[in-house]
Amino acid sequence: MNLNKIAYTALVAFSAAIATLVISHGLLGTRADATEPPRVAPISREELARHNSRDSCWKAIDGKVYDITAYIPDHPSPEAVLLAWCGKDASEGWHNKRPGVAHSGAASRLLAGYLIGELEGGPAPEPGLPPAPVGRAAHPDGKLLLELAPGTYLDGRYRGSFLDRGEMQVGMQFDLRDGRLTALEYRHLAYGGIDYLALAEDAPLSPVTRQYRQVADYLTGKPLHHIFDLYQPEQVVTDIDGYTGATLRTSKVISAIRDGLNRGVYQWPGE
Ligand code: HEM
Repeated sequence: MNLNKIAYTALVAFSAAIATLVISHGLLGTRADATEPPRVAPISREELARHNSRDSCWKAIDGKVYDITAYIPDHPSPEAVLLAWCGKDASEGWHNKRPGVAHSGAASRLLAGYLIGELEGGPAPEPGLPPAPVGRAAHPDGKLLLELAPGTYLDGRYRGSFLDRGEMQVGMQFDLRDGRLTALEYRHLAYGGIDYLALAEDAPLSPVTRQYRQVADYLTGKPLHHIFDLYQPEQVVTDIDGYTGATLRTSKVISAIRDGLNRGVYQWPGE
């Protein structure tokens, strides 16, 4: 009888202990779920930048970092579309799989599965005016100048012009492909009532037209920021009347191209 009593007491104590464990675990579990945000590691921009290839492709999207290496072969677009954003803040590409068209909800749920961390310092700041560079040379490099320019320039065909005192002097069309300039052409070149596109090859002013064409040839195939090389025309065109004249002309081309960029895509690729 005594033995039975001991066994019974032990059973009750054991069951109580198990019940306490189950309840406390449940409570703790509930509390943890309710209050703790999902834990993701902070990832620096330097670390992000190291994973910039097909073999290891990380992307920051809206302040979170994703390792999408394994997903690359499954993505419906050509691989290059995804690879262009590896190691970078890819929010812009994510929100514009095609210009102005965001990914679907299904794509967002898929993306969530590749989360590996949070970008240190949070999402990239909203586009605005960055602080003025201090102590830069008179000709800051082109990349910096492009950073200072407003906007992100999508692939497409652009048209822009340079006007002064009511007269259009330069009208241009160009394509952007993967951030590179192609198919540059002048639709209009005039000054003081002279149509430079209509000049005969041997006309006294035809070297000016040639300089403009040298500028277009120089830019063809180059990343966009090379438009700022034109601030130093001696690198780009043949001297015909001292570089002062050329400087004025190349500055007009920079203006016309930037006017086109500001206006936005005139025609989407393939249309
Ligand atoms: C950030 C750079 C990216 C770019 C530029 C990009 C671009 C594109 C393009 C061009 C398409 C096909 C066109 C279309 O559906 O209309 C597409 C579709 C798709 N992409 Fe991406 N993509 C990117 C990143 C990603 C990532 C990281 C994922 C998922 C992990 C993803 C998932 C999908 C899915 C599921 C589709 C099918 C259509 C949809 O659900 O929206 N993409 N994307």
